[in-house]
Amino acid sequence: MAAPRRSRTDGPADPRSLALLDWYDRHRRVLPWRAGPGERPDPYHVWLSEIMLQQTTVETVKPYFAKFLALWPDIRALAAAEDQAVLSAWAGLGYYARARNLIACARVVAARPGAAFPETEEGLRALPGIGAYTAAAIAAIAFGEPAVVIDGNIERVIARLEAIETPLPRARVEIAAALRPMVPPARPGDFAQALMDLGSGICRPRNPDCLLCPLRAGCKAAAEGRATAFPVKPARKGKAIRHGTAYLVRDGAGRILLGTRPAKGLLAGMAEIPNSGWAETAPPESPPVQAEWTRRNAPVIHVFTHFELRLIVAEARLSGEIPAPPGLRWVAGADLPGEPLPTLFRKVIEAV
Ligand code: ADE
Ligand code: SF4
Repeated sequence: MAAPRRSRTDGPADPRSLALLDWYDRHRRVLPWRAGPGERPDPYHVWLSEIMLQQTTVETVKPYFAKFLALWPDIRALAAAEDQAVLSAWAGLGYYARARNLIACARVVAARPGAAFPETEEGLRALPGIGAYTAAAIAAIAFGEPAVVIDGNIERVIARLEAIETPLPRARVEIAAALRPMVPPARPGDFAQALMDLGSGICRPRNPDCLLCPLRAGCKAAAEGRATAFPVKPARKGKAIRHGTAYLVRDGAGRILLGTRPAKGLLAGMAEIPNSGWAETAPPESPPVQAEWTRRNAPVIHVFTHFELRLIVAEARLSGEIPAPPGLRWVAGADLPGEPLPTLFRKVIEAV
């Protein structure tokens, strides 16, 4: 059993929490930033790992964590480092704003008395790069504060344990309310990390191993045989749909009329098949040249991040060669591969 990190009065602990801690003492993952059983964790290690673990997996973080400790063994060393050296060491972890905040935070902490981190959630929250989750995690793991730590894994475990029917993200209020009284005052950091380990190894998103789970006796979702029904996902809103028309015109020489997109906005500066633009209701027709247009029945469908675009393809064939209208240009078929033509418009050409 790990000893309490601080002498706190042991309040009545939830039996499920005790079962979980007992499991953690036998099955905890050995991770480079974790203190051994009963050891006091180094706040610098805890902080550095939590920043690195934001949006990155444990396996990815391990070598970076080792490299940072080798280069900068404590917060003062990191605070004194050149920005460029830290950014280079961070390269590959992504989200470079995190690295900039890391440097800023190291300098703030190094300037505090004893170069010591604040020990409360509130104090930690005020530091650069430390949000609500990270503040709670550091307070609990490094300082034994009874903080309510909720990451994606913990969210799933608690939603299942209590069979919370409210969909995310609204469920988070209920998840926090269910978790708060479960936090064991003597070992809040181990408790949070036990839930993380349980969520990653046993209470997995797709096939939870309820038979091996130390929480099974008290788990409402498992009792109902509905583990994977939780957490309930928000009803998926249909993607917004936008409509428009693309005008594919060939001249007598087989050339295609192309334009260039504005320098700002979606597909900025790329080539395009002349089109009407797109909106929720199809914008007015705007053929680039006078011709006999035939329309294909099935639209070309292309999915962007925020909407699905359905483009009707209007096609025309000119008999001779005419000058390109202002802002447009004729491009020979052989030159098309060299054009910065986005997939959407390549689909339009392939459609006919
Ligand atoms: N993810 C974020 N913090 C973690 C921790 N302390 N242990 C395991 N996974 C984590
Ligand atoms: Fe998750 Fe199953 Fe354990 Fe419940 S019993 S917490 S669903 S692994």
